[in-house]
Amino acid sequence: PGMSLMKHYLQFKDLRAEEYAYLFDRTRIIKTRFKNYERYTPLSDRTLAMIFEKASTRTRVSFEAGMYQLGGSVVHLTTGDSQLGRSEPIQDTARVISRMVDLVMIRTFEQQRIRDFAAASRVPVINGLTNEYHPCQILADIFTFIEHRGSIAGKVVAWVGDGNNMANTWLQAAEILGFTVHVSTPSGYEVDPAVAGISNTNCYKVFKNPLDACRGAHLVTTDVWTSMGYEAENEARIQAFADWCVDAEMMAVAQPDALFMHCLPAHRGEEVTAEVIDGAQSVVWDEAENRMHVQKALMEYLLLGRIG
Ligand code: CP
Ligand code: NVA
Repeated sequence: PGMSLMKHYLQFKDLRAEEYAYLFDRTRIIKTRFKNYERYTPLSDRTLAMIFEKASTRTRVSFEAGMYQLGGSVVHLTTGDSQLGRSEPIQDTARVISRMVDLVMIRTFEQQRIRDFAAASRVPVINGLTNEYHPCQILADIFTFIEHRGSIAGKVVAWVGDGNNMANTWLQAAEILGFTVHVSTPSGYEVDPAVAGISNTNCYKVFKNPLDACRGAHLVTTDVWTSMGYEAENEARIQAFADWCVDAEMMAVAQPDALFMHCLPAHRGEEVTAEVIDGAQSVVWDEAENRMHVQKALMEYLLLGRIG
């Protein structure tokens, strides 16, 4: 049903600012219902297939628990236990799965792979992380910022570390929602605006020194030095990223009420000190929980459109 209106969520810029405003409103309502133990099962006859070609804790649990709460069911596949691991083409996998389920979430390597899947799919496809992007995480992060501090428009987000999938997605979000990202990465690990897929480079500023990126920031955020799929570079990255550990000194030059976020999993003593991630400014557990609430709103929107 509603094929002509079918939307995928493959990158942050697949939705517009007013759709985000709607999703954040819906998330608030859906989260409140959950907290009040109210039953809300609008997806009662729907099935979500989740395909993981990389490891996951949060993404799996948040989508799976979220779909059950909405009344639906979930099928979980990995590369190793499906024919994807025996080189069945991704397009054929998409054609088959999308005849049986209503929605698909994929975590994989190249963005091209999820594009190929979506092009052959009869049902909406959600990006649960690719080498290039992690839109569901930024959706949760911005919802978490709004819960704690109000609108993110006009604010400064400091990105300290790798110019990776999270960094790219922050840039897309900045362009759409009207805030600025202060980016500091070691040389060789810069963000590439072409890969990030932004048309307006005014939404971010580059700083050599991570301390300068944090000055005046309303949110300081980082991520692992070695993302999934880049394990062979681990040793080189540990050397290159040594000065990009978010510490108390960086938090001290940010706004006095600055928040700290990390998509997790975290490595205390590498990209962030224990003092910061376990400190009073850190909202990492809210961030992780909010993955479930924002994704429930997203699944509802992709399957049912606007409610009311
Ligand atoms: N932040 C995040 O996506 O976590 P997982 O890798 O555990 O899913
Ligand atoms: N940048 C990290 C995020 C993990 C949730 C990775 O891609 O492995």
